[in-house]
Amino acid sequence: MASSRDQFSSRFGFVMAAAGSAVGLGNIWGFPTQAASNGGAAFVLVYLVLAFILAYPILMAELVIGRHGQANNVASLRKIATGPFSANSGTFTAYYGLITASLILSFYAIVGGWMASYLLASITDLIGADGATQWMTEFGETRNLLFTVLFMGLTATIVSRGVADGIEKWSNRLMPMLLGLLVLMIIYVLTLPGADAGLRAFLIPDFSRALEPELIVSAMGQAFFSLSLGVGTMMIYGSYISEQENLPVTGGIVTCVDISIAVLAGFLIMPAMYAAQHNGVQIFDDGGALIAGDTLIFNVLPPLFESLGPAGPIVALVFFLLMTIAALTSSISMLEVPVAFAVERHNLKRGRAATLIAGVIGLVSAVIVFNFGELFGRVVAFTTEFSQPLLGLFLCLFAGWVWHRDGVLQAMKKGAPNLEHGLFWKIWPAYVKFLCPLFILLIFLA
Ligand code: PHE
Repeated sequence: MASSRDQFSSRFGFVMAAAGSAVGLGNIWGFPTQAASNGGAAFVLVYLVLAFILAYPILMAELVIGRHGQANNVASLRKIATGPFSANSGTFTAYYGLITASLILSFYAIVGGWMASYLLASITDLIGADGATQWMTEFGETRNLLFTVLFMGLTATIVSRGVADGIEKWSNRLMPMLLGLLVLMIIYVLTLPGADAGLRAFLIPDFSRALEPELIVSAMGQAFFSLSLGVGTMMIYGSYISEQENLPVTGGIVTCVDISIAVLAGFLIMPAMYAAQHNGVQIFDDGGALIAGDTLIFNVLPPLFESLGPAGPIVALVFFLLMTIAALTSSISMLEVPVAFAVERHNLKRGRAATLIAGVIGLVSAVIVFNFGELFGRVVAFTTEFSQPLLGLFLCLFAGWVWHRDGVLQAMKKGAPNLEHGLFWKIWPAYVKFLCPLFILLIFLA
């Protein structure tokens, strides 16, 4: 069985795929604006600390459970169970994760669709098709539905090709492109008048806020969402890593890439906002807080692009291409969770499973599109603010309490023969066992 399973073909491929999952809309628009409205560099600092002491250990738990299981998440969690209770809890956790991943995809595809529609709109803008441009940049149910379907179709197409030929191949292509586009955009935006004020807002820390409970809760949510934790994307990707691979090192690289891209994005978004303000666009809401969320992307940045003259549509094109790529490499990892399960458990062909499941999730997206005001925010909150940390807690309990310590060590030692003598093994077991669950509980209570 193990040998017939699809695998990532190299460490680079895995890192690109896992970083592709991690780096998404959460990094490029969530992180910078959260930082800006939560004390600038103080938030960045708290985020960095939480990413390393909380998110990285849980990422490692997911990766090692997945690689040990060499199967879909239900089977992987059941494999480390020690009795009927833990086996049933494993099944529950895996299903809960699978449903959460699917629900995240149902709203993520809508947002990904917006990115794609603005991308196309920048092209119609370039060729002067004003009617089309206007339709694609106006919030409407038909547009939302159409582009959600388009985005979901792209996601399903990549996933149906498999791990090495689909997910890995496309991550290998898209991630370097994303980095290139991001750097290009930063260089350009930093030359705009007003940009330096944005740099200051992003970088000057307001330490008086670093210990505020709200700030810490936001930073934790951001870290969980950003590293794609809890829902099983990293576990299923872990199940495709070769046994020769050193997990703590590889997981460390993924964490660092994710954090670096988030910080880099801050160097783009914040200066862009202040450059927009310089050009007369309002960037603070009535409460005096920096505009965030969809208002930022669709109400602040487009007028900035427009004010740039002939360069505008091209800058918009590059920016929305960047956003579309970031969303796509994340959405494929979400779809892989239910698809891997359906393929292994129900013997479905991968292509058929991907189409079918993307279709069902697309229907959920459609329900959200037509009840946007009531549903969108609720689905986001239920999945990312509530379920992801809770699932993270369950996974810690599995890696720290259910799975025998020796078993974890043997699994982790594959590809890292000297593990028990290193720093990682001195710290990590106690971390997932005591500290991470405690942290999550505390933050939940707060
Ligand atoms: N990490 C992705 C982002 O930052 C979102 C994501 C969440 C991806 C959960 C997979 C699973 O946008």
